[in-house]
Amino acid sequence: MKVDGKEMRPIWLKEDGHTVQVIDQRQLPHALVILDLARVDDVIMAIQEMVVRGAPLIGVTAAYGVFIAALNAKDRSDHADFFRQECDRIKAARPTAINLIWGVERVVAAVKGMGGDTARIEAARAEAGCIAEEEAENCRLIGEYGVAIVEKISRQKNRSTVNILTHCNAGWLACIEYGTATAPMYAAFEKGLDIHIWVDETRPLNQGARLTAWELGKHGIDHTIVTDNAGGHLMQHGMVDLVIVGTDRTTHTGDVANKIGTYLKALAAHDNQVPFYVALPSSTFDWELKNGVTDIPIEERDPDEVRYVQGLGPDGVKKVMISPLDSRAANHAFDVTPARLVTGFITERGVCKASEEAIHTLFPEKTGT
Ligand code: MRU
Repeated sequence: MKVDGKEMRPIWLKEDGHTVQVIDQRQLPHALVILDLARVDDVIMAIQEMVVRGAPLIGVTAAYGVFIAALNAKDRSDHADFFRQECDRIKAARPTAINLIWGVERVVAAVKGMGGDTARIEAARAEAGCIAEEEAENCRLIGEYGVAIVEKISRQKNRSTVNILTHCNAGWLACIEYGTATAPMYAAFEKGLDIHIWVDETRPLNQGARLTAWELGKHGIDHTIVTDNAGGHLMQHGMVDLVIVGTDRTTHTGDVANKIGTYLKALAAHDNQVPFYVALPSSTFDWELKNGVTDIPIEERDPDEVRYVQGLGPDGVKKVMISPLDSRAANHAFDVTPARLVTGFITERGVCKASEEAIHTLFPEKTGT
């Protein structure tokens, strides 16, 4: 997507063919900083510290991490053990987004059986690049299918403004291009539909206020940042026509893990008959787990992310404490919205109901996996 007229992605391979570069999302919107990832430790740090974040981007970064592991395994007598251990370390970087494991396993499978370091490195580089392109195309298709939902509401409202609420950042920064939840918004904007986005700030790390607002603003899409607690009020007063969110892991039965606070938005949407859609590429489905509420691992992050906020002051970007020094804090990073509260899924194959049957009808090759 374009940033100030320049095409950008959140991750790419440098011309030298071996250095992976990423946008440091911790610094946005105040600074556009690029980081090099040259070692597996850099990849793990980037995922854990949320230099990169969002399920599809975590998957692509993990895929490039396997490429870096293959590069670093070159000429080592223990290359097979070393490579396996490095891949296991990448897989353990964050627990909730299924794309992390998926991205590692896809590149490991592509490398399997390759003889010689050069062939392994080439195969890993090609597969990671292929995953990045596929995810970009998946998001484009999510936009194409999702825009029909926006268009229908626009027609019902005689072309007046369609108000869409989103939570966290499921934009191109979290993916490769277009985003998942934002793809239908970008597509609607391109079609000239009148849209306005309510952007949940998304405490504690403010991915909505910092990242979604930045993305939408750079694209010229009308938006308003609201506190995480505002959604229910907005819905009660007819100010939200549609909710679209992303997801970090969705069971094949339709339960959706996403950024903490998503479940409350789904409850409010249900109570107010506001359609609640989840946009995702197939890489975010978990084809094994059945019960998202009990079985999806929920990351608990450093409580200091709750106790402090980061922002821009007269002396630059800094962190300030907002709680009493001795108060405990807890930081559950995700929650699970049960399938019964989800109106539908927007995927690269089309839109379907949030049920096991509908999901498997769209992805029949996954039945029995
Ligand atoms: O903790 P984060 O910022 O990685 O969480 C991201 C989200 O919850 C996104 O909504 C989700 O990954 C979908 S991204 C297309």
